[in-house]
Amino acid sequence: MRKIILADSAGFCFGVKRAVDTAINMKKKYNSKIYTLGPLIHNNDVVNFLKENLIYPIELNNIDKLEENDTLIIRSHGVSEETLNILKKTKLNIIDATCPYVANIHKKVKKYYDLGYHIIIVGDKSHPEVIGINGWCNNSATILKSGTEPGPLSNKVCVVSQTTETQSTWENVLTKVIKTSKEIVAFNTICSATEVRQKSAEELSKKVDAMLVIGGFNSSNTTKLYEICKKNCVNTIYVENLLGIPDEFIKDKNVKIIGVTAGASTPNWIIDEAILKMSK
Ligand code: F3S
Repeated sequence: MRKIILADSAGFCFGVKRAVDTAINMKKKYNSKIYTLGPLIHNNDVVNFLKENLIYPIELNNIDKLEENDTLIIRSHGVSEETLNILKKTKLNIIDATCPYVANIHKKVKKYYDLGYHIIIVGDKSHPEVIGINGWCNNSATILKSGTEPGPLSNKVCVVSQTTETQSTWENVLTKVIKTSKEIVAFNTICSATEVRQKSAEELSKKVDAMLVIGGFNSSNTTKLYEICKKNCVNTIYVENLLGIPDEFIKDKNVKIIGVTAGASTPNWIIDEAILKMSK
C-alpha cells in the first residue's frame, strides 16, 4: 500500500490568506467588481477563481480606467513608496493588503536609507516584492543573490532579504558583504512561514521515494521548495495542480512513499485534489 505524506507545513501562508480573504470580503461588502494591483497571488488557479467572483487584476498604468470609489487592493507583496503615493492621490477606495512582515521591511529600509546606509536586498531583482522594497530607498538598493559578486560597496550598509529567500543564500551573501563593508546592519527578514515550509519540505524529502511540489510556476517560494526537495530526492516533480501529475509518476511501482508540499500561494483545495488523484 502506497503512503502519501503531506509536509507538516504546506500551502497558504498567513499573508497570502489574509490578502485572498480581504479580496473576497471586499467583494461581499461592496457587492461590485473589485480590482487587485497585479494578480493577487502567484497562482493561476486562484486568480481564475477570483475572476469568476468578479475580482480582477489590473496594472498600475491602467488604473485611470477605473471609476471613482472603485475598490483596488494592494497585494501581499506590497508596493513602492512612489506607487503608494500615486494610489493615495486617486479617488479610488484603496485597501492595503501588504503582508505586515513585508511592510516591516519597508519601514526598516526607509529608516536606514534616511540614516545614510546603502541598502542591500538579498533576493530576485525582478520579483514584485523586491521591486516594492527597493522603492522605499529611492530604488538605490544593490540586489544580490548567491552567485553575484557585490563589487565595491559603501562602508555603511543595511542588509535585508526577500521574505521567501533561502537561509543559505542569505548566509552566502552576508559572508561577502562582511568582507567589503565595515558598518553592517543586517535584518534577516526571511519570513518564518517560508523557513518553516522549507524545513519541513527538506525533512520530508529525505525520507520519501518521490516528492510532489505543488504551486504556480511563477511562484518564487514554490520554486525554492522544489530546488530544496530535488537535492534530497531525485524523483521530485513540480506541478501547478492535479492535471500536471504524470500517470507514470502515480503508477511507478518502486514508489512506496510520496511526499507532498506546496508553496505559500497554493490553496488547500488544490493540494487536496492532487492527493486524492494520487490515492486513487
Ligand atoms: Fe507574509 Fe511570509 Fe507569507 S512575508 S506573504 S506571511 S511568506
